[in-house]
Formats: sequence, structure tokens, C-alpha cells
Amino acid sequence: MSYHSGLIQQAAAVTIMADVTLQRPEGAAEDWSIPQQWERYSPAEHALWDHLFERQAGMLPERVVPEFMDGLKLLRMTRPGIPHFDELSERLMKATGWQVIAVPGLVPEHVFFEHLANRRFVAGRFIRSPEQRDYLQEPDVFHDVFGHVPLLANPVFADYMQAYGRGGLRAHGFGSLTSLARLYWYTVEFGLIRQGDALKLYGAGIVSSYGESVFALDDSSPNRLGFDLARVMRTHYRIDDFQQTYFVIDSFEDLLRQTIETDFAPLYARLRNEAELSSDAVLPGDRIYTRGTQAYARARAIK
Ligand SMILES: [Fe+2]
Repeated sequence: MSYHSGLIQQAAAVTIMADVTLQRPEGAAEDWSIPQQWERYSPAEHALWDHLFERQAGMLPERVVPEFMDGLKLLRMTRPGIPHFDELSERLMKATGWQVIAVPGLVPEHVFFEHLANRRFVAGRFIRSPEQRDYLQEPDVFHDVFGHVPLLANPVFADYMQAYGRGGLRAHGFGSLTSLARLYWYTVEFGLIRQGDALKLYGAGIVSSYGESVFALDDSSPNRLGFDLARVMRTHYRIDDFQQTYFVIDSFEDLLRQTIETDFAPLYARLRNEAELSSDAVLPGDRIYTRGTQAYARARAIK
């Protein structure tokens, strides 16, 4: 079994950590949106999408939360070729009131939050080169659309994403974007969910990565810990490789409820006085599904 470096995830975080002084590229609208220009994709680019799609869709049904597969079908993403954002938006709009819009790459965090708060998901329109099949520094259309969009068709997850965007807009005044970025990272990008006795994938950074789709569930190296909002917001994460810890939510409903019911202002104040936690930490109060050996991380560190 071979694992690939998980750099596809790196820019997922950068999207929300981006410097507010980013210059809006020429041709981008005030909200940083650009036309997808679907007709410009080459046959080779569509074929690369199909290859990546087949590879993930072949292995995910046993591993991913069923709501993800439902979303793929509902949005008719099982058809060949890079999806047309307008068509996706039309179907998403009917399901949950969300849209997908293209952006030129990184966007300032307030732009990102503003879009989420208004139920618009921003996606890169370019697709990786064949050489970058498993290694990518900026989220491309496959990560953004295959990874993120199917769950936006789920009403509860769709509400969570909007609640997160609203939280981001509010967090601006608190200087707490790092804590909030960790919440995004450990849920939207790298979240696991418990269903019955099994753990399933739902984070976009995992489900769009062949290697991490296996590693996150099967490998003995990472910790798998019960989700705790305040704890997650203190925890560092890996931007250059597979995660050392995954957090497991009980349900999308519970994640949404915790996000809506938490009063973030006092939480941010409290977090400022608490020590940050390393990406492999296990605390006495953690709900432990797996205490990882961290063998993978250690082996990578000495290379
Ligand atoms: Fe992402």
C-alpha cells in the first residue's frame, strides 16, 4: 500500500488563512468570482477528472458517510467530465439553496466567509496536471468540487457550512482566525464521523485523496479522538502530510448544534489563556477511539 503526501490539503487551509492584502486579479468580480469557462477544458483535462473520480468513487462507498454518495447521485456528479458549475448550482439550489462559484485561487478570508455565510461555495476552476495526480499545493477543481460539494446537498451539513461562514465573519473582530481555521480543518477538511460501530469519512481533504482515504480509517499511526469543539480549536494540524489526529463527530446534527449554540466570544477569550496542543497530543479527558502509534509520522520525520 503506498501513501501519497497530502499536500492537497495545504491550500485548503490557506484559503481561510490567506492574507487580507491579497490583490484581486484582473477580471475577477468584486466578490472575487470569475466565470468557470467550462468550454475551455480540454479532453485530457476531462479525462483526468474521470480518472480521479473513478479511483475515489471505486473505493469510497465502504468508507465514506452515505450522505456523500447520496450527494454525488443527487447532483449527477457520476456523469463523466468536469462538472459545469451552473448545472451543479441549479441542483444544489433546489436541494439546499447553495451555489458553487469559481474563484481564481486564494481569496481573502473575509471574502471566503462572506460567500459561505450566503451559501456560496468557492471553488478553483483549474485541474491539476497529470504529474500532480497525488501531490498538489493548491486546491483544484477535483478537491473543491468532488471533495466538498456532495455534502452541500445534505441539509444539515449545508447549514453547518453557513454557520461556519457566519462565525468567521464574527471572528474577525476577535483576532481568532487561527482557532477557527482549526475547526474547519478538523471537520470540513479532515473530519471523521461515527455511524453505529463504524467510523466513516466525511472531510473533503480525505475523500479527495486516495492515500488518506485509506490511512485515515485503517492505519494504526494516527489518533482518532472524539470531537470536542474547544479542544479542536487548540490543536495544531499538519499541512504537509497526513494528519496525526482525526476527530470523530457523533453526527452532523451534533456538529451543527455545537457550532450554533457555542458562544464564541468567551470561548476565544478562554482559548487565549490555554496552551496550544501539538498535532499528536492525547489528553486525559479525550474520548479515544484509537490511540495512534504515530509510527508513520515518526518514519517521515527521520527521512
Ligand atoms: Fe478544501
